[in-house]
Amino acid sequence: MITDDTFLKIVRSAVKAPSSHNSQPWLFSREKDAICIVPDFSRTLTVADPQNRELFISLGCAAENTMIAARFYGYNSEMHIESVEESTKIRLRLRKEEDQVQPDLFSYINYRQTTRNMYDNFIIPQEYKMELKNTITLPNIDVIFYTGEDEIKKLYPYILESNNIQISDLSYIHELIQWMRFSQNEAVRKGDGLYVACFGFPLMGRTIGSFVVGKFMSAKREERRLLKQLSKTSTTALITSMQDDPTNWIHTGICFQRLALTATKLNLNHSYLNAPCQVPCVRLQMMSQMPFPGAFPQLLILLGHSEKMPFAFRRRINDVLI
Ligand SMILES: Cc1cc2nc3c(=O)[nH]c(=O)nc-3n(C[C@H](O)[C@H](O)[C@H](O)COP(=O)(O)O)c2cc1C
Repeated sequence: MITDDTFLKIVRSAVKAPSSHNSQPWLFSREKDAICIVPDFSRTLTVADPQNRELFISLGCAAENTMIAARFYGYNSEMHIESVEESTKIRLRLRKEEDQVQPDLFSYINYRQTTRNMYDNFIIPQEYKMELKNTITLPNIDVIFYTGEDEIKKLYPYILESNNIQISDLSYIHELIQWMRFSQNEAVRKGDGLYVACFGFPLMGRTIGSFVVGKFMSAKREERRLLKQLSKTSTTALITSMQDDPTNWIHTGICFQRLALTATKLNLNHSYLNAPCQVPCVRLQMMSQMPFPGAFPQLLILLGHSEKMPFAFRRRINDVLI
């Protein structure tokens, strides 16, 4: 039986997980000896993520944080993913363990962040890459590292084409603006969304902010920013899965969160370049060039060194409980 106090402590760690657009599309409930996580479809990104693929990856990240925190508080977890028709539920059955080993990733849950600064071309040592690769322990999930300018350049056509398609799509920009938080007041009040300070942008308020993004965000400008960012990054990692369904998306999130926390432990920062996995026609082109035939690209991330940025906010715990 999990006490109220332990349940709340575990959920507080769970919601520190990353989610696309910081939409936090999760709800938590407690059963006698289990914590359940279900999607909150009212937080779906209908344009950027119409299949809810990233929604389920985000749920997987939250599930991994839940299991790490549960272990910290003395519980082993056994995960079951229950899919009945349209509904998917992650049930984590917790069992008290007397002599638990303290999980070494727990302390990095609060410290991990998406760091969108420019990186410094740091070459990631081979042993770090091995440690990151060893975090991928679920069947069907894998990670491919692209290291150095020549290898990373192979990804340029996909990154640039998908960026062009997304930024030229008014409905994508409209949805993005809805999820942007242009002032600290708005970010704290809502507790979700993309706080502009996390991108290094000035605070400006919603009216001016929406106008500026709508008027000045262009595919060309974004392409220049991406090329600059890529020229300063020596390693990218592509997480793939062999199947493309809610269970595999959740598994992707679990493995990715372990990788992101391990990167944080190794003092590496990470950020996302996910457009090629989001735009269907580009994703298909990328699939045809994958080292493992048939693997689905799920997440493309940059790894390196840079200064930390302001942290993103989270909603109040009461808002994510059912
Ligand atoms: C599945 C998934 C996709 C994401 N895609 C992007 C992306 O394309 N670009 C980006 O800047 N951040 C992306 N993020 C990062 C989120 O925006 C970030 O997790 C959220 O704003 C909360 O910030 P934090 O990670 O620093 O806690 C993604 C996160 C997840 C889980």
